[in-house]
Parts: sequence; C-alpha cells; structure tokens
Amino acid sequence: MRQSSAVTGTRARTTRGARAARPRATTTTRAGLNVDLRGKKAFVAGVADDNGFGWAISKALSEAGAEVILGTWVPALNIFETSYRRGKFDESRKLSDGSMMTFSKIYPMDAVFDAMDDVPEDIATNKRYAGNEKWTVSEVAKCVEEDFGKIDVLVHSLANGPEVAKPLLETSRKGYLAAISASSYSNVSMIQHFGPLMNKGGAAISLTYLASEQIIPGYGGGMSSAKAALESDTRVLAYEAGRKWGIRVNTISAGPLGSRAAKAIGFIDKMINYSLSNAPLKEKPLEAIEIGNTAAFLCSPLASGITGATIYVDNGLNAMGLAETAPEISG
Ligand SMILES: NC(=O)c1ccc[n+]([C@@H]2O[C@H](COP(=O)([O-])OP(=O)(O)OC[C@H]3O[C@@H](n4cnc5c(N)ncnc54)[C@H](O)[C@@H]3O)[C@@H](O)[C@H]2O)c1
Repeated sequence: MRQSSAVTGTRARTTRGARAARPRATTTTRAGLNVDLRGKKAFVAGVADDNGFGWAISKALSEAGAEVILGTWVPALNIFETSYRRGKFDESRKLSDGSMMTFSKIYPMDAVFDAMDDVPEDIATNKRYAGNEKWTVSEVAKCVEEDFGKIDVLVHSLANGPEVAKPLLETSRKGYLAAISASSYSNVSMIQHFGPLMNKGGAAISLTYLASEQIIPGYGGGMSSAKAALESDTRVLAYEAGRKWGIRVNTISAGPLGSRAAKAIGFIDKMINYSLSNAPLKEKPLEAIEIGNTAAFLCSPLASGITGATIYVDNGLNAMGLAETAPEISG
C-alpha cells in the first residue's frame, strides 16, 4: 500500500503491520519578516539636507515601499530644492534596488506656527518666507489632505533652540519658550492637525535625546526640558490619539549624529567620540539609517503593539552609568 505524505509531497512506503516511514524533514523557504509599508503614505517634517535623521527615516520608509511627502522649514526650502534639483543628493538617494528615492511633494512648513493668525509681522514680511504660502501646521495638513487624502505615517524630525549653547542657568524666558515651541509643541501641533487625516493603525514618530532624563552639560537653552516634554507628550498623545484615531505615537532617543542641527550646538564631534569609546557597542559608529530602520519598523504593522514608548537607538549608551574612559577609572 502506498501513502501520500502531505508534509513532503513524496510517497512513503509502508508494509502491513510495520510503522509508516517518517516523512523526510524539509527546509521551508520563507520570505522573511519584512517591514512592508507598500501602499502607505508618510509625511516627514524636518528634512533640509541628506545628513540628518529625517533624510535617513525617509530613506528607510522608501525602502519599505512607502510614498514619502516632505515638510521643509521655509527658510531652508530654497537651498534644499536647488541642491536636490542639481543632483547634490543623488548618491544618497540611491535605494537598495538601484532606484532613486523620490518625494511626492515638498511643502514649505514652519512648525512653530499653527495658523496664519499666529504669525508675527517680522516673519510674515521676512524675505526668507517671501514667495511661499500656506506653511503653518494647520495649512500644511489641509494641503496634504487635499493633495493626497489620508496618510499612514507622520514623522517629526525637527528641533530648534536659539540659546542651546547657553547653560540653563543663563537661558532667557524667551529662549526657553522658543526651544519648547519649536521642539516639543510642534509635535503636539502636528499630531493635532494631521491626526484627523491619518488612517487607523497609522503611526507618529519623533526624535528625542538622552538629555531629557540625564545631565548632558552643553545641551542647554531649555533643549533638555524640551526633550523631556516631548517624551512625556509621547505618552499622553499615545493615549489620546490612540483613543481618538487609533494611531500609535512613539519617540526614538537617538545617539549623537553630526547633522546640521547638531553641529550648531558646537560639541557634537566630542559626543560622537565619547559614544564610540563608552557605549556598550564600542567602536561601532552609529549610522543615521539605524534610526531610519527603527522608525520604519515602529511605523509598520510589525510594531502594532508598541505605543507611548521611548525607544533608544544609541548603541546602548543610555544604559551606561560609568564612563570607562574617565581618567579616574582608566588611569
Ligand atoms: N543629531 C543628533 O545628535 C541628535 C540626537 C538625538 C536627537 N536628535 C533629534 O533629531 C531630530 C532631527 O535633527 P537632526 O539632528 O537630524 O538635524 P537636522 O538639521 O537634519 O534636522 C533638523 C531639522 O529641523 C528643521 N527645523 C528647524 N526649525 C523648524 C521649524 N520651525 N519648522 C520646521 N522645521 C524646522 C531644520 O530645517 C532641519 O531640517 C531633532 O529633533 C533632534 O533634536 C538629534
């Protein structure tokens, strides 16, 4: 008698009274567990060159198949678009399948203002804003909805602290509030205005830094406070936006990267070297794409159970309590 084996697809011979031969083990080739964002639309705020986290996140989202729409700070828009057109970013636009990352549209945006009524005269008439319109958060959200309908992913990759180089003890009220406005409330505002046009199951991501919870001398001007607010808001917004629109809200605490914004702080190279020497993953440079890949994962259905979280992508530096390279320890 012959029996067909459903497992191997081959025939296993049996004899009367004898035990059936065991089907031979086979290796099954699976597709792998992929971050699949095909058919999803992402709005990424905070890209003005190819050095920062916003660019790396856009790239990872593109690799995963998402359509990427940008919101670029108005004063930086002209130079970004010109450089883009002239091919300055062509090398870093290359995706793994040989195609080029493209942006469906680049909107002018200033995340410090929610509506035109909030814009003071000196900004409204500033020549760096001339020729652009509808760049406040509510207006950009409305334009995105008109042009693209619903979106699935919202990325806040921006910060600004005009007095970042000043210790907190010397920071003015104006400088402190400006840091909070540009770096924390901007995220609240984006979720307020883009939330209604996000599909259920969608996800919002922002970028934070360890200075929110541990002392990082030199990260001043209220920026440490702004990051603490951003992380707290991530939890509250996860609850409120989760209940209201069924979306997830997370933040990535990134290790040091020599972006344009970081260079403005003045000691980023030292921070990168400190991390290289002291992080658990010693001598492993932190690549922006590692933050990008984490963002893509967090925005994908694979992370459907993660919300309200601060996820560290910093080679583990946040977990260290002692700098091995301090002279008192290493000497
Ligand atoms: N670079 C680091 O070491 C580091 C570490 C942890 C977290 N982060 C965070 O990552 C995020 C991205 O910064 P980055 O380091 O990639 O630098 P970046 O210079 O690439 O990005 C900052 C962006 O913010 C934009 N921006 C500033 N003010 C704005 C406004 N009012 N409206 C709209 N856009 C505005 C700038 O044009 C710029 O594109 C920030 O939240 C930053 O705090 C950076």
